[in-house]
This record gives sequence, structure tokens and C-alpha cells, in this order.
Amino acid sequence: VDLLGPGVEDYLREVLPPIEDPVLLEMEAHAQETGFPAVGRLVGNALEILARAVGASRVFELGSGFGYSAYWFSRAVGPGGEVHLTDRDPANQRLAGDFLGRAGLDGPIQFHLGDALEAFESEQGEFDVVFCDIDKADYPRAWSMARDRIRVGGLYICDNVIKAGGSVNVITMESERPGLAEAVRAHNEAVREDPDYLSMILPIREGDLVALRVR
Ligand SMILES: C[S@@+](CC[C@H](N)C(=O)[O-])C[C@H]1O[C@@H](n2cnc3c(N)ncnc32)[C@H](O)[C@@H]1O
Repeated sequence: VDLLGPGVEDYLREVLPPIEDPVLLEMEAHAQETGFPAVGRLVGNALEILARAVGASRVFELGSGFGYSAYWFSRAVGPGGEVHLTDRDPANQRLAGDFLGRAGLDGPIQFHLGDALEAFESEQGEFDVVFCDIDKADYPRAWSMARDRIRVGGLYICDNVIKAGGSVNVITMESERPGLAEAVRAHNEAVREDPDYLSMILPIREGDLVALRVR
């Protein structure tokens, strides 16, 4: 997918910071080989910058897969921080532990196996960043649960808010399962209308919503 027009994303990737960590390359190869929808380097780099920009030390991820997006958050928060990972697939938990351990980025990692929103509810306190990348039907619920649990000055970030592979397209309102495009659009509207947040959509990869809590 290239929301920005031919060649633009290629150029954005070309000018990314050169990180040649062999474990990161292995994770990217794993996503490629298995067709797993990890956020990829362009979004990963943005996640790290955004988390560092708000001085994040406590991050909660809804939908972590095998730990690719967490790789970037872990770099941002450093070994003394907390990155909560959630996924319902035990194979992803094992893979994330292995990859992040070998990358030396497992210091801040806490993996919750099971439903992401249940895990979020059971974890106390506020977060500097909540990152949402779960099933699109749950986006509205994820936002309504997360919005009160982000500190003022913290961020809500949500992936796939314009497209999700072939399964959702918020511009054409087509979706593989009925209601998915509507759910993502309703989610985007709810964030936009929230007086406590200032938000925008970065049109990188499949669209990432970034909302800053201002009050
Ligand atoms: C798009 S992938 C996450 C990719 C990850 N954020 C990354 O960039 O590396 C979505 C993952 O969330 C998991 N998932 C989706 N909905 C979930 C839910 N409600 N609870 C727990 N896991 C969920 C799926 O098993 C899948 O591994």
C-alpha cells in the first residue's frame, strides 16, 4: 500500500536512520516470509520518535504479534521503562520473548497472554502511550477504554486507520467483514471529536492516528 503516491514511501524508507541490528532484520524477514502484518520500519521508527518525544516510560500495546512494534517502544523507554505486550497467540509470546531477548530489548517487556482489552483493564494506572493494533471491530472499544488511562501529555496511537491490507478501506468504506470499515471510521471520528485530545492521521503505510492528550 502506498497512500502517498508512487515512490514517496520508498523515499521515506530510504531516508530512515540506518539500523542494521541483525535481530531487527530477522524480525522483518519473519514478517515478510509469514505475511504477518507487523507495522514495518517506517511506522516503527515513528513509534520510537513519538514515544521519546513525550518522554514515555510506560507503554501499553493492544495487539503485539511477535514483538515488532514493541522493539521500537522498548528502544524508546529504555531498560528502566515498561512496555506491556498483549496477544492471544502463545506462539507470538514465545517469538517476542526470543527476538526481544536476543536484541537486548527485553528489560522493559511484560507480556500478557489473552484478550488485549481484558489485560488492559486488569493493569492499573496511567500510561504515557497506548498503541492500538488489534482486530478492527474492537477499535471503538479500545479508544473508549484507553482515553481515560493516558496521562495529560501522553499519546494514543492507532495503526491501520485508513486501510488494513485488503480487509478494511476507510476511504471507499469497503471491508472484508461487514461493519469493519464503519468501526474504524467511527473510531477515528470519536478521537477527532474528543475535547481532551488533539489528533491527526499520519498517512504512512496504512495510516496511523496520533492523538495527544491536552487536558
Ligand atoms: C496487526 S497484528 C500486531 C502487529 C504488531 N503491533 C506489530 O507491529 O508487530 C495484530 C495482533 O493482535 C492479535 N490480536 C488481535 N485482536 C486481539 C485481541 N482482542 N486480544 C489479543 N490479541 C489480539 C493478533 O493475534 C495479532 O497477532
